[in-house]
Amino acid sequence: MQTHEIRRRFLDHFERSGHTVVPSGSLISEDPTVLFTIAGMAPFKPYFLGQATPPFDRATSVQKCVRTLDIENVGITTRHNTFFQMAGNFSFGDYFKAGAIEHAWELVTGSIDDGNYGFDPERIWVTVFETDDEAIALWKDIAGLPDERIQRRGVEDNFWDMGVAGPCGPCSEIYYDRGPEFGVEGGPIADEERYLEIWNLVFMQDLRGDAGPKQGVPVLGPLPNQNIDTGLGVERVAFLLQGVDNVFETDLLRPIIGTAEKLSGRVYGTDHTDDVRFRVIADHIRSGTMLINDGVTPGNEGRSYVLRRLLRRTIRSARLLGVTEPVLPTLTAEVRDLMSESYPELTENYSRIERTVEKEEQTFLKTLASGTKLFESTAAQAKAQSSSTVTGESAFALHDTYGFPIDLTLEMASEAGLSVDTKGFTALMDEQRARARADAKARKGGFGDLSVYKELLDTGGPTEFTGYDELQSEAALRGLIADGKRVTSAAEGDIVEVILDRTPLYAESGGQESDAGVILGPNSSAEVLDVQKVSRKLWVHRVRVTDGELHEGESVLAKVDPEWRTGARQAHSGTHVVHAALRQVLGPEALQSGSYNKPGYLRLDFAWNSGLSTETRSEIEEVANLAVRKDLPVSVQYTSLPQARQLGALALFGETYDETVRIVEIGGPWSIELCGGTHVDHSSQIGPVSLIGESSIGSGVRRIEAAVGMEAFRSLAAERALVAELAGLLKVPAPEVPARVEQLVERLRSAEKELEKYRAAAVLASAGALADSAEQIGGVHLVAATAPDGVSGGDLRNLASDVRGRLAGKAGVVALFSASADAVSFVVACTPAAVDAGHRAGDLVKSFLPAIGGRGGGRSELAQGGGTDPAGIPAAIAALKGALES
Ligand code: ALA
Repeated sequence: MQTHEIRRRFLDHFERSGHTVVPSGSLISEDPTVLFTIAGMAPFKPYFLGQATPPFDRATSVQKCVRTLDIENVGITTRHNTFFQMAGNFSFGDYFKAGAIEHAWELVTGSIDDGNYGFDPERIWVTVFETDDEAIALWKDIAGLPDERIQRRGVEDNFWDMGVAGPCGPCSEIYYDRGPEFGVEGGPIADEERYLEIWNLVFMQDLRGDAGPKQGVPVLGPLPNQNIDTGLGVERVAFLLQGVDNVFETDLLRPIIGTAEKLSGRVYGTDHTDDVRFRVIADHIRSGTMLINDGVTPGNEGRSYVLRRLLRRTIRSARLLGVTEPVLPTLTAEVRDLMSESYPELTENYSRIERTVEKEEQTFLKTLASGTKLFESTAAQAKAQSSSTVTGESAFALHDTYGFPIDLTLEMASEAGLSVDTKGFTALMDEQRARARADAKARKGGFGDLSVYKELLDTGGPTEFTGYDELQSEAALRGLIADGKRVTSAAEGDIVEVILDRTPLYAESGGQESDAGVILGPNSSAEVLDVQKVSRKLWVHRVRVTDGELHEGESVLAKVDPEWRTGARQAHSGTHVVHAALRQVLGPEALQSGSYNKPGYLRLDFAWNSGLSTETRSEIEEVANLAVRKDLPVSVQYTSLPQARQLGALALFGETYDETVRIVEIGGPWSIELCGGTHVDHSSQIGPVSLIGESSIGSGVRRIEAAVGMEAFRSLAAERALVAELAGLLKVPAPEVPARVEQLVERLRSAEKELEKYRAAAVLASAGALADSAEQIGGVHLVAATAPDGVSGGDLRNLASDVRGRLAGKAGVVALFSASADAVSFVVACTPAAVDAGHRAGDLVKSFLPAIGGRGGGRSELAQGGGTDPAGIPAAIAALKGALES
């Protein structure tokens, strides 16, 4: 049974029994605690937690997932994929254990003709949580499983959580016995290769904190409802139903191996090491393609780094299979063809995917070439010092500068008969990580220990944000925090964090800088330095007390600086306008991947692979300013996330959205984005938008910057003043400045050429005079002199050769020096006859190096070098004469 069919049957089965089919969410986790979506339940988390009311009691989905924790094991075991599809059914306070078991049993063992998977019921085993007698009874009752095929397991195996705070619960797993040829008897507790897990039923009923039962910490308490969350491994089922040896040989992966076979000319199944490489390629390129499809671009941090690693490991595996040509575009095309039946957007997005991988592969192949050079010189150095170890520093430099994964360095080292100081390498990596952590902490302003905030959140609930409607609000001062600890008061000069029950001050988010403002107590005032949200709910104001004392519990007035807010609204609406203009001019795939705005300034990072021409930039600027001039109305509405998507609202990658989302529209459909920011009421209030820069900030990502409002005016005015100044200096009207500059440059160029001719003639003339000045010393004709002013570098060498040419036929030695204030350079040239007479330029040089504090050397005919003491030139000439005489 084909994988697409397995997927379809799952959804059909549950749709028939009243489940709403929910499309897969993005691979980019909406949950900031994890990089990628790692389970089917992820999009439903707010429902389990009771934070949002689900629009259905039961749902089903096939969710795209990526897990890259044990990436090193891919291809070595039979069942581990970094990308996989988790099919699940979910009940939100509707059916519980019995329902989950009934549904699963029917689909797993029901007949193929009736739309099920048709597994032999005699080969099914299950595990249950050690104390879950209820589940055991249900398995016997509903499925008729005998006691010996129901096994109890502890918290390690049969308690499911996301590894972080959130919903969790005991679970029951369904296994299929592949038969005695795959391992020992005794059920899943004895052998998980023979007994393969296909489905996990989680009885989601508990809430865990930062640590859970697996770390010996009890759960926090029950969830508002008893729920069901299940996860069936679509690829595992395919592996079993297709009767192949491992997941890599199933219908959606084996053809990728086939493509890699064609590219490499090697055959899968003949050599174990090669096979692992083939499997790595198939697995990684699929995950990489799916990630790019969802908007991840290769880079050096977070998700981007994981993607980069996947792509680079793919390229490297191909190289180890002997392919030197680029492989990624061919492989991604194969992935598209295989996967688009279930994910048609792959076809739509393919040109972006292709561009991204092409660029990444080019970059990596260059990296590989220069890194290989560095590696070779490192290896040569090690050998020259008769050491057999590549130092930790070198391995780190390879990693840090060239993106060489340590295993690549290890592999190359072992091919060169060297080992690597991995301890030293790890120590340097740890140092770097510690530095990065310290940086991140410093940036965030000390949100290291979250427990203080959590306590405030638990006791007083979230902060109410009043800033959409008013610029000042009366509020109660709920807490003061200094250096991560609660305090009851703060005096003049103190920098502390202030938590209010409500605030009009915007906290930095969605790219918008936090508001400037003040907090006024009954007899104190404080300047707001920064506002951040903790856990997306608690507004933390970092303030400096400028007058009097702030006290916990008192009533305060929180005020936004109105000037600041006006600028902030212009800048944020300006960002939406520029984004819309970008997409209008470049096409919808120019999607924003990050942004930042503050009064007067905005910048926007977007997915695009090449620089924008001047014309394109002007066009974007024009579209943006036209939108401003049209005075489009700006409106805000609240709706559900799916509804917002239906309206075409742009949800940005990597952002986390609540169930109820805020949509900001400018001119109706002209620009529609999910956004919590503060905006103008009409586009004309944005004022002029002036692009001030466009640059690359990483592969496939560009940054556009603009000045907005008065700042745009000021930046244009400054440019105008600059042009006026240039026109004044050049004494032409402003429009003629470019022609005038061009003319001047042209004249300068021909003047330089002319000058060059004279200089060459002068040098030539001096060559004759120098040759005539030759003295007979120790049997050779010696010309030793300081060259005419301005002759240095290449000219000095040419002059020396010229003089030597004039001494041809004789034994001649030419030594020319060129001096500046604190440096001297020299060239020594010998005629062939002088060389025959035993004079070598390289040796002669040595005689006078000390006199000029110099270094240098060369061959028999020509040597050169430099020194630091021009005053020593006469002494150097004397030393040279001495050497020739002796
Ligand atoms: N959430 C459960 C899992 O990921 C079903 O295994």
